[in-house]
Formats: sequence, C-alpha cells, structure tokens
Amino acid sequence: MSPFQLTRTLPEDATDAALRADVLHGLSRTPKTLPPKWFYDARGSELFEEITALPEYYPTRAEREILLARADEIAAATGARTLIELGSGSSEKTRHLLDALPGMEAYVPVDVSGSALSAAADALLAERPALSVHALIADFTRELTLPRTPGPRLVVFLGGTIGNLLPTERAAFLRAVRERLEPGDALLLGTDLVKDESVLVPAYDDRSGVTAAFNKNVLSVIDRELGADFDPAAFDHVAVWDSENEWIEMRLRANRALTVKIPELDLVVHFDAGEEMRTEVSAKFRQDGVRSELSAAGLELRHWWTDTEGRFALSLSAPPARR
Ligand code: SAH
Ligand code: TRP
Repeated sequence: MSPFQLTRTLPEDATDAALRADVLHGLSRTPKTLPPKWFYDARGSELFEEITALPEYYPTRAEREILLARADEIAAATGARTLIELGSGSSEKTRHLLDALPGMEAYVPVDVSGSALSAAADALLAERPALSVHALIADFTRELTLPRTPGPRLVVFLGGTIGNLLPTERAAFLRAVRERLEPGDALLLGTDLVKDESVLVPAYDDRSGVTAAFNKNVLSVIDRELGADFDPAAFDHVAVWDSENEWIEMRLRANRALTVKIPELDLVVHFDAGEEMRTEVSAKFRQDGVRSELSAAGLELRHWWTDTEGRFALSLSAPPARR
C-alpha cells in the first residue's frame, strides 16, 4: 500500500489560537454564538457519521443518489486528473466519483479534522493503492495552499457544508476558490434545497438524539481545550427554521441559570435560564440563488442536478470561457 502524505498547513498552535479567539468573541457578545468548525474533534466527526445514517437526515442519501446517477456525466464534463475535496470528512460519497474517473491521479482531501482525514485516507488507499493522496489539515475559510498536482482539477464541496457559512463568508469563500481555479478546472458543489419545515427540522432534531449530542459536543471541546466547566446537561438542543434567511439555526438553550468559568481565557460567562446561544446555521438554497452567488464569484453554472425527489442539488460550475 502506498503511503499517503498528511500535511498540516496550520501550525499546531493555530487551531488553539483560533479557538480561543472564536470562543472569546462569541461568548462576549449578545446573543452569544459559537462558530461551527469546532464541532469536529474525533468524537464530533464520529457523531456526524452517525447523523448521515439517521432516517431523518436525508441530505447524505439524496446527494449520494445524484453522485451515482451523474458520476459519468461529471467525469465527461471535467476530465479531471486531480480531485480536491474541501471538508472531506469520511470521503464516503467521494468514492463514487473516483470510481467514475479512471484518469484520476491525485486526491487532495482538506479538513480540519486530522482523525477523519487519516481514517478516510487509509480506507481509500486499501482499495486504490495507485492513487496519490495528499491529505491537508487546514481551515478552508482561511488558507487554501494546494499541492502541485496534474490538471484539470475538480474541486468538490459536498454535504451542503457551504450552507454552514454565513452569506458574507460564503461570498468570500467562493471568490477564494475561484481565484485558485485554472482554465479547465471546475467546482462541484452540493447544496441542500429549500423545502417544507416538516422535513427540514427533523433532519436537525432527530428522535434518537444524535444531533443533540453532536451539537453539545462543542461544549466538551471547549471544556477540554480551554479548561472550561460547561455542563452539557445544562443545555438543550434547539433547531429552528428561519424562513426569512432560509436557514436552519442550531442553538443550545440553557435549561437553568448558570455561570461557566473558562480559565484559559480568564473569562466567566453567565447564562440566564432559557438563554439561547447560536452554534450553527445550515442554509437551504434555490437554483437562482446558487447561480447568482456563483456568478458573483466569477463562476458560471454549467450543470444543475437534483435527486428524484428534488431535495438536494449538485451544481457544476467553472470560470467562464474566454473569448
Ligand atoms: N463532506 C462530508 C462531510 C461533511 S461534514 C459529507 O458530505 O458527508 C463537514 C466536514 O467539514 C467535517 O468533516 C468538518 O471537519 C469539515 N469542516 C468544517 N469546517 C471546516 C473548515 N473551516 N475547514 C476545513 N474543514 C472544515
Ligand atoms: N453540513 C451539515 C448540514 O448542514 C452539518 C450538520 C448536520 C450539522 N447536522 C448538524 C451541524 C447538526 C450542526 C448540527 O447538514
């Protein structure tokens, strides 16, 4: 089996510094917020994998259906020799693309979760020993220094993760991706679609409580990394549909008044009973919105594919051809 390269483009302590800054900023304002990327320590990545198998969480199955149905078209439209995947997690669905693209030489999974990256790379290499895997531990909202690999390159961003960025962050992110594309490269983007609240809310508030555990895991991360004394049992998981912004908002609600000490930040934070803190948004999209956000970043929508029930979409976009 060929070894894979695991590169950390962040210095070891950058994660630490970013976590401190994010927690300090988020907990000092009203209403309090916590930024979502801190969900994904080893436990968080495992819990997310459990979410993808929940009966209520349709996005993973819907996106897999599209990938299976359209992999050959994607292969024909891109002719990609390098696959760069942002927020790759377990790389589970990515296999369908790799299977359809026999000319694929290099795979570059990028994720903040080192544990998810090494497990994914091990599993992939067991099946495809000839694939060259350059795994990158990096924050895709900050820096995207990509290794030199053969073109054309296909950048894929699956799971509807783009919806976890706020609109201004999304615009900056898409522009940064666009800047890194060379002629012939393309972007394959997974976006969950606007649909009835009765389907959306259970996907983020399942009966078995896995999503609640995932949401509360961010508190355990802060307890462990910053010496805080958050009691996860003092918070309830809340998922609400915001019809104005067309996003699901995940919150943690204090079920009693409490005071939390965060020694590493020299911070004491008070929560009133019933106080809610936003931990994540998951925006849902429409075709027109996706087209215009891509266009604002200098990308042209070339293909739009949905699952048969019209729940989720994959779009293929590229820099406009020069004339
Ligand atoms: N693509 C997979 C996983 C989606 S979950 C799927 O479709 O099932 C989101 C993934 O993005 C997680 O693996 C998480 O660790 C990663 N992630 C979240 N924020 C990130 C960031 N800012 N930079 C890099 N990776 C991030
Ligand atoms: N990208 C996933 C989504 O928006 C992340 C996610 C799924 C998530 N379930 C969650 C994030 C629950 C926070 C809480 O669908």
